[in-house]
Amino acid sequence: MVEYLVSMMRRRSLLLFLLVSSAPFCFAGDADLYPKLPCEAPVYNSFAFCDTSLPIANRARALVSLLTLQEKIQQLSNTAAAVPRLGLPAFEWWSESLHGIASNGPGVAFYGSVRAATEFPQVILSAAAYNRTLWGAMARAIAVEARAMYNVGQAGLTYWAPNINIFRDPRWGRGQETPGEDPLLAAEFAVEYVKGLQGEYDTGDADGSSLMLSACCKHYTAYDLDRWDNYTRYIFNAQVNEQDMEDTYQPPFESCVKEGHASCLMCAYNQVNGVPACARADLLDKARKEWGFKGYVTSDCDAVGIIYEDQKYTSSPEDSIADVLKAGMDINCGTYLPRHTESAIRSGKAQEEDIDRALLNLFSVQLRLGIFDGKGAKKQYGHLGPDNLCTKEHRDLALEAVRQGIVLLKNAKDFLPLRKHEVNSVAIIGPGGTDTTVYGGDYTGIPCNPTSILEGIRSYVPRATFAAGCIDVPCQTMDGFDEAFAIAKDAEIVVVVAGLNLTEETEDLDRYSLLLPGKQMELIRAIGNISKKPLILVLTGGGPIDVSFAKEDPLVSSILWLGYPGEVGGQALAEVLFGDVNPGGRLPVMWYPESFTRIPMTDMNMRADPSRDYPGRTYRFYTGKQVYDFGYGLSYSKYSYKFLYVPEKITVSQSSAKDHIKSKPPHIVATKVVSTCEDVKFHVKISVFNNGHMEGSHTVLLFYRPKTSIRGAPRKQLIGFERARIRANEAAEVDILVDPCKHFSFADVQGQRILPLGTHVLMLEDLERELVIETEEFSVQNKKIEDKLGGYLVTWYPDSLTDVPMNDMSMRVDPSRGHPSHTFYTENGILIWMC
Ligand SMILES: *[C@@H]1O[C@H](CO)[C@@H](O)[C@H](O)[C@H]1NC(C)=O
Ligand SMILES: *[C@@H]1O[C@H](CO)[C@@H](O)[C@H](O)[C@H]1NC(C)=O
Ligand SMILES: *[C@@H]1O[C@H](CO)[C@@H](O)[C@H](O)[C@H]1NC(C)=O
Ligand SMILES: *[C@@H]1O[C@H](CO)[C@@H](O)[C@H](O)[C@H]1NC(C)=O
Repeated sequence: MVEYLVSMMRRRSLLLFLLVSSAPFCFAGDADLYPKLPCEAPVYNSFAFCDTSLPIANRARALVSLLTLQEKIQQLSNTAAAVPRLGLPAFEWWSESLHGIASNGPGVAFYGSVRAATEFPQVILSAAAYNRTLWGAMARAIAVEARAMYNVGQAGLTYWAPNINIFRDPRWGRGQETPGEDPLLAAEFAVEYVKGLQGEYDTGDADGSSLMLSACCKHYTAYDLDRWDNYTRYIFNAQVNEQDMEDTYQPPFESCVKEGHASCLMCAYNQVNGVPACARADLLDKARKEWGFKGYVTSDCDAVGIIYEDQKYTSSPEDSIADVLKAGMDINCGTYLPRHTESAIRSGKAQEEDIDRALLNLFSVQLRLGIFDGKGAKKQYGHLGPDNLCTKEHRDLALEAVRQGIVLLKNAKDFLPLRKHEVNSVAIIGPGGTDTTVYGGDYTGIPCNPTSILEGIRSYVPRATFAAGCIDVPCQTMDGFDEAFAIAKDAEIVVVVAGLNLTEETEDLDRYSLLLPGKQMELIRAIGNISKKPLILVLTGGGPIDVSFAKEDPLVSSILWLGYPGEVGGQALAEVLFGDVNPGGRLPVMWYPESFTRIPMTDMNMRADPSRDYPGRTYRFYTGKQVYDFGYGLSYSKYSYKFLYVPEKITVSQSSAKDHIKSKPPHIVATKVVSTCEDVKFHVKISVFNNGHMEGSHTVLLFYRPKTSIRGAPRKQLIGFERARIRANEAAEVDILVDPCKHFSFADVQGQRILPLGTHVLMLEDLERELVIETEEFSVQNKKIEDKLGGYLVTWYPDSLTDVPMNDMSMRVDPSRGHPSHTFYTENGILIWMC
């Protein structure tokens, strides 16, 4: 039955099925049969795995050694079975907490004593705040609410967030869940989120320290297509070259593990270069061996089943199971492993050791969460309960996140802020004006007390009227337009709320168009035509929207992007409109024009390729027209910058001359051979002056670009950001740590990180400052001499070249006869090649 159901209901409905069948997880069945807590005295506390004086690894091994094969297999699902004879209750691994406790996983249930949780803004909006303190504080608040729900049996301890895949294509339905398109921004968000959710990390313990909760970096890797054209994430084979893998797709995961110390990785549905992500032993190995990952690897939900059933990658379920277990996956979200692992073992395809390896990872995380600590299990967080959810403190933090994240995209003639006491009436038009379900975005729970935009504006101007204009976000008809025209004519100020909702972009649904849905544009134009003053356009949604028409139309005075603002969105928007908050959010993704949709979403290449009319992707590589650039965002203040300190020159040393690549200009060095990366880090000191009349909280985005064009290098690249509060007519100093090996490097086509030598340009909006990077061998002085030679017309050889007979006409190197060649000259393995 279950098997039949699962195969019938595969894909999106599987999630539903699991939800219905297993929530709430630990209360089903005979209460006496199932222990509530492991290691309960007096019977179940005598096992070695309950002994808190032993190291985690020993306790995990002790527990594995007590289990039968069948018991082990029943642990390999998100709903791990109880083992009553050992006092083990069932354990639900799947809970969700992307931007607040969400109802997507079976681990969370809203009923009884907890019926709501704080709904923070969707991640893409929080990312626009560029404020690490804020991100960490939100993750800690979510952790408090999660532990509180756990204590009353309504949520788990292991959460499958954050989603840190790069927002590679503007059409991606889940781009809203991510911190955007830039690898550095995504990486820094990931670190703050994971540290905040997991609690302070103590690196003292070799097995990994104790955890408040477990966070999961997903989806590993190159996952960013849900359902587009004939492709679904379940079968999509992401073809990613080594270069993009190294400097776009992997960096957020590397940081999430290395710096965030995440205790979980989720492998994705898609294939990566022909191999299902959950079977990519090399990638999972890299995380453990190179990045030091300590934790468990879960598959995305049903991502093992699809390997055989949909991808036909293997020839049996048992082969799939052997592949993923041997690759290093530990549990399967879904029931595929419990159903097929025994036959995989019987047929000799998988071995019991493979399961034991997985169980050690799984139990180690449970041990670090303290659930086997008997009475001690609750000591640290046991005081948390329903009173710790929906607190004023958490609501204020959610509010602060929207205030900091809202992006002002247009403000013609300083139309905003509105003068509080001079505005007598406001008309609010658009379904998002009152429908607070629009504010959540995906992976939400039940908000505590949502404030609509209408309510927010009414708190400033009691005469605020509302008309939907469009009956819903898709806006297929003009039903409702007349009512909107009527209120627009009467009001002094008109606010139109347009944009996207989950009907356009969500899990399992990508967009085809970047334009506003349905007849929204017609509505905006018509309203602008009849309103007394140019209208204010508020855009909801996570993905970029081509609003070029509004950008140019004088009938639209201002445009604000509100993302999915969460439950306090309506209030924060009103505060910005009326000038109690000076907006300072900046876009975490570039906004493309509609013409970009001619590019297949399936093309994973980041770099432009003019030979096939491919414009590249994201602000780092895209060469086409933009609607709004990455990092764009206005404010009610104007800021000006000064570089207070940038070094003029940085000299790096190499550990081995052999690996040094010295090719024709531009000269580069592989970062792995730079032995002085730590020593050459430096602080850029910047002064920011607020020329406006209002205090502002402003994000300084520091970019770099190579001075001369270098094949494969980004157009520009974010290397640091810092948010600062600056009073009107005052300056603030901002300090940004730059790590040249990391920030000025990018990958070559082999996926090796290379650092260009020579002049680099640091950029603060229009202000630029040059700095030179050289190695001991390649100094600027040499470079100047080369430059004077006027374009490298001849190579200057050392005297040793005279060993080569002048009558040898071969141009190319022939090592077999010690031939150094002329223009492709090598010496000691170093390629000089200065033709
Ligand atoms: C999608 O599938 C349909 C039907 O099989 C086919 O006609 C169409 O060409 C496919 N589109 C692409 C872009 O491959
Ligand atoms: C927004 O999307 C949600 C989920 O699809 C839907 O329930 C709601 O009705 C939508 N709201 C509008 C105004 O279209
Ligand atoms: C704007 O108003 C003018 C004059 O009434 C009309 O001709 C035009 O069609 C209107 N445009 C829109 C977009 O409604
Ligand atoms: C960053 O966020 C924190 C937490 O909300 C806030 O206290 C701080 O003022 C913010 N920083 C700036 C510069 O706005």
